[in-house]
Amino acid sequence: MPTDDVDPQARRLSRSFLRDGLADVEPYHVEPHRHRVKLDANESPYDAPPDLKAEIAGAFADTRWNRYPDPRAERLRLALADRLGVPIGCVGVGNGSDEIIAALIHALGRTDARVVAPEPTFSMYGILARAAGVEYHGAPLTSDFELDSDALHAALRPGGTKIVFISYPNNPTGACWDRDTIANLLDVPGVLLVLDEAYYEYSGMTFLPELATRGNLIVLRTFSKAFGLASLRVGYMVADPEWVDVVDRVRLPYNVNALSQVAALTILAHDDRVAEHLRWVMEERDRVLAALDEAEGIETFPTDANFVLFRPREGADAVFNRLLQAGVLIRNLDRPGLLRNCLRVTIGTPTENTAFLAGLLGEPAAVA
Ligand SMILES: Cc1ncc(COP(=O)(O)O)c(C=O)c1O
Repeated sequence: MPTDDVDPQARRLSRSFLRDGLADVEPYHVEPHRHRVKLDANESPYDAPPDLKAEIAGAFADTRWNRYPDPRAERLRLALADRLGVPIGCVGVGNGSDEIIAALIHALGRTDARVVAPEPTFSMYGILARAAGVEYHGAPLTSDFELDSDALHAALRPGGTKIVFISYPNNPTGACWDRDTIANLLDVPGVLLVLDEAYYEYSGMTFLPELATRGNLIVLRTFSKAFGLASLRVGYMVADPEWVDVVDRVRLPYNVNALSQVAALTILAHDDRVAEHLRWVMEERDRVLAALDEAEGIETFPTDANFVLFRPREGADAVFNRLLQAGVLIRNLDRPGLLRNCLRVTIGTPTENTAFLAGLLGEPAAVA
């Protein structure tokens, strides 16, 4: 009978079965810190209101649970296509945009392929490339977190295919980078550019119009952030139908379950509620940024997203632990290199942000 204890024989055996290169891949890990206020994962602080949840639950109850969900998620893709003004064939949905990133790397990871991303950025590009056994190359940003065009172009070695991931705005640094520098990548031979617009609703900036003329561009979006559906895992891609077909070749059948399809569809039909939440978060973003900028010894970085990267003079670990003691969980990104002493805070509700600022700056705050 298996137990929680590691059996040395199973360990030896599993290592001997493991594909080359996977021994060094760290599983994605979320540290289970105790907290009352959760500002570490760039989620929306606003859950769907009860009437919306009731509508979703009702629609889900009307589906047949003994049948597989629509494998092509036609209604959801059609709703997205209508909203974006593109044909339905240009839209593909996934179990979170993570799944689409993984599927693209899996399908396109030829032996002469290289995955390239500016760094620091969203860690899953590198994790998923390594997991798929595809060469990964991080091109360092400048010290003020701008794109370094030379470093980026140096990573695009001649020959072979290059799958370039650009988080726009960038997680964790926060800002949308220079448009022309990004657009120039589209002219490099052998480049597929994947523009990850997970935070588009906050930034309002998009490469979607470029899709009309650029066959080597894919735009990714998600329901996990501004739409407040992180627990249901729905992401989507917009691109030429040929790229949707590429993902279809490797994604699992029925990858988006029936509840997730219904929830995303219902939320889309009530986007006025999403807009309201969005407005509240943006107002709070201004307040939090202003407070951080006013404070002594805190360096902040510009943001177009629902989070702020900052560097406290007293050191990231000290601040992170003090906040944790106050029940506020943020993300400690401190590591050697550009993110030395950096922390990232997600914008929460006014009460949550007040608790964060109080824990950080030492002012009293009442948290329910
Ligand atoms: C830039 C970026 N892309 C993708 C994702 C993942 O989104 P999803 O929940 O749709 O998998 C995240 C989540 O933090 C992100 O920051």
